[in-house]
Amino acid sequence: MRVVLYSTKPYDRRFIGEAAAGRAHEVEYLDARLDRHTARLAQGFEAVCTFVNDTIDRPIAEQLAGGGTGLIALRCAGYNQVDLHAAAELGLRVVRVPAYSPFAVAEHTVAMMLALNRRIHRAHTRVREGNFSLDGLLGFDMAGKTVGVIGTGQIGTVVARILAGFGCRLLCCDVHESDELKQLGGRYVDLPTLYGASDIVTLHCPLTPQTHYLIDADAIARMRRGVMIVNTSRGALIDAQAAIDALKDEHLGYLGLDVYEEEADVFFEDLSDQVIRDDVLARLMTLPNVLITSHQAYFTDTALRNIAQTTLDSLDAYAAGGGLANEVTAAK
Ligand code: NAI
Repeated sequence: MRVVLYSTKPYDRRFIGEAAAGRAHEVEYLDARLDRHTARLAQGFEAVCTFVNDTIDRPIAEQLAGGGTGLIALRCAGYNQVDLHAAAELGLRVVRVPAYSPFAVAEHTVAMMLALNRRIHRAHTRVREGNFSLDGLLGFDMAGKTVGVIGTGQIGTVVARILAGFGCRLLCCDVHESDELKQLGGRYVDLPTLYGASDIVTLHCPLTPQTHYLIDADAIARMRRGVMIVNTSRGALIDAQAAIDALKDEHLGYLGLDVYEEEADVFFEDLSDQVIRDDVLARLMTLPNVLITSHQAYFTDTALRNIAQTTLDSLDAYAAGGGLANEVTAAK
């Protein structure tokens, strides 16, 4: 089967290439993101393989279907970037990689919490410049702190396990309650209770119309002064301007972002010799208590190997005409 991959980097090509070896697919790699201009490059490819910032809205789905594509294989878990209704109407099937390593994302989440708390990013820069003072680096013990986990699925569960090991108290919010979370000592509460009692709030729910700007000015105002918020889920869970306002008046004490609503034009690219045109991102980058990573939480060798393996297995299954274990369809 002919497959074209959008948004590929050298590391993607390495892991996909290894997984594709010995399988009967003709694989073409593109650097470009999938958009209305680049969709025509998929002409004649039965399968199109995309990543988190490749948007597949109705016009793009129409172009892909018109060009002979039948399968969209997402190299990620989230599928908020795909118009599943349009895809279904056009006969495009969509598969994703539902779980490639919850550990990768969870461990990065906790790394961000620890780095923000103990100001590791600032300490590292200081020491390199010969400044060995501790002023401004005061942290807090994680033991005994209350962490609010929003979304207790695969990643939220691993985060909770790690934090339980630190001796944190866990407050949880999810539309489905997890027995494992309760066994870890987690207590399910409503959002206002979680906001009011948490020292750290960590986001692990998907981006949906219900969770869009879940963390807005009102939500932050309900939180404790000095609270830490960490988002490794999807950028638009947070109203970034509201976060900046709360950081400026010091109600929000720390912000860790691995994802950002407008990340598509910035993240994964080396822009070090360019001007950052996004004023919201540029402002966030100036604040000492904000830590930003570039959608890096998933980025471990285990995760990349699993993404490649699952994606190639889905391509095999589609080519064989069998069922697609990781298919996603629009909610009825
Ligand atoms: P999951 O599907 O296992 O868990 C998501 C949980 O959120 C579920 O338990 C679900 O019931 C809950 N949920 C749904 N709507 C909710 C709401 N309105 N309020 C509270 N909880 C709600 O997903 P998983 O694998 O844990 O991933 C979580 C998110 O992490 C993904 O949606 C994705 O956006 C993000 N992600 C980020 C990565 C990164 O590199 N930064 C990599 C992989 C995933």
